[in-house]
Amino acid sequence: MSDKAVLSWGKGKSAEFPVLEGSIGPDVVDIRTLYGTTGLFTYDPGFLSTGSCMSRITYIDGDQGILLYRGYPIEQLAEKCDFPEVAYLLKHGELPNKDQYNDWTGRITRHTMVHDQLTRFYTGFRRDAHPMAVLVGVVGALSAFYHDSLDINDPEHRIIAAIRLIAKMPTIVAMAYKYNAGQPFMYPRNDLSYTANFMHMMFATPCENYEPNPVLVRALDRILILHADHEQNASTSTVRLAGSSGANPFACVSAGIACLWGPAHGGANEAALNMLEQIGDASKIGEFLKKVKEKNSGVKLMGFGHRVYRNYDPRAKLMRQTCHEVLNELGLQDDRLFKLAIALEKVALEDDYFVQKKLYPNVDFYSGIVQRALGIPVKLFTGIFALARTAGWVAQWNEMIADPEQKIGRPRQLYIGAPRREYVPIDKR
Ligand code: ACO
Repeated sequence: MSDKAVLSWGKGKSAEFPVLEGSIGPDVVDIRTLYGTTGLFTYDPGFLSTGSCMSRITYIDGDQGILLYRGYPIEQLAEKCDFPEVAYLLKHGELPNKDQYNDWTGRITRHTMVHDQLTRFYTGFRRDAHPMAVLVGVVGALSAFYHDSLDINDPEHRIIAAIRLIAKMPTIVAMAYKYNAGQPFMYPRNDLSYTANFMHMMFATPCENYEPNPVLVRALDRILILHADHEQNASTSTVRLAGSSGANPFACVSAGIACLWGPAHGGANEAALNMLEQIGDASKIGEFLKKVKEKNSGVKLMGFGHRVYRNYDPRAKLMRQTCHEVLNELGLQDDRLFKLAIALEKVALEDDYFVQKKLYPNVDFYSGIVQRALGIPVKLFTGIFALARTAGWVAQWNEMIADPEQKIGRPRQLYIGAPRREYVPIDKR
């Protein structure tokens, strides 16, 4: 027999609710009937204790610092897979065999170009527009171009939309960069791997070929793997919430990109690098951390802390290792910001404030340094994150659409405004 949770309130009122068990991780109290049976809502701003769905995709143990995609530890996937393989795993639930891998990457490769008319969207933006502003617009606009993959109830449409999103994001992100830099767009090269092709579209020009360096391609591929999914984070929940109304996947992913843009989420890698630039020198770390610890300063140690991890983010460890590899390859072992980041991490991890609040580096603490070394401009960092997370968003969106228990997302509230009152004419106010 399964457990029950008992809720008691008021004078002798009580109700029982089933407790559901996952395959791993904490059980959940199923409160779907709470309002109907008790007239009560729950209050949980920020969803600190609320599970919004059942999912088979990603598991995080924040206390232990564990991250699994479909049961596989992130460390193994980051070492042994490439990004398309991980995207397949997230979407389909199993690692592909050779034929499945070839078919998947072949289909992705055939969808890397964007509709030629889409290029006109870019010229409508200011050259200095933030790439995330461009991505929100252009990805949302995909639904105006690909009418043959908008029927969310047709599994074939859903898979084509997923492939299109995964395939076109590198092209769309690279075009945002090229437009900003004032350079012509580069067409995808389908003889290259997913990530090497992205680097080609970023760094080649019509007058100069670009031979992607395999060490750097591997590093960027790893960044993509590490950012591919992270269960019900803010942007993924946004994608699911937008999709719960039946909106098409391009519109939903565009909503996810908008959410990811914020500095508390995907914008943190950009903010972390800017923070390092501002600190400037190891001698200023003490002064900076003093400001961080002042309650009302509004200054945070960017790239530190996480809603779920109360331990070292496993992705941050892999990112630090990738950082070493990239800087060594480029002969930048003495990189000023990397050294500063290591010194800052060390001081923070020994500081009582961070120890007591269990604040550890998250994936964004080092990812900015790696991306900068790869030649990616700071403003595009969150765009790279969006590219990677698209794999998770489409997997999560598909899971939601196929879930028979799925309902339109519609939270309730604790109303604390004025009770009913009568209208007062303007000359009497
Ligand atoms: N620097 C200083 N203090 C911090 C930090 C930080 N980076 N993060 C949390 N704290 C403090 C909070 O002020 C709070 O203190 P209090 O209890 O005295 O009020 C306490 O630690 C708990 O933090 P919350 O903000 O309540 O934790 P929450 O789970 O809501 O926030 C978040 C998590 C948003 C990631 C937060 O840690 C943060 O802003 N970090 C910096 C931004 C960042 O790196 N974001 C990337 C997240 S990872 C990702 O999106 C890929």
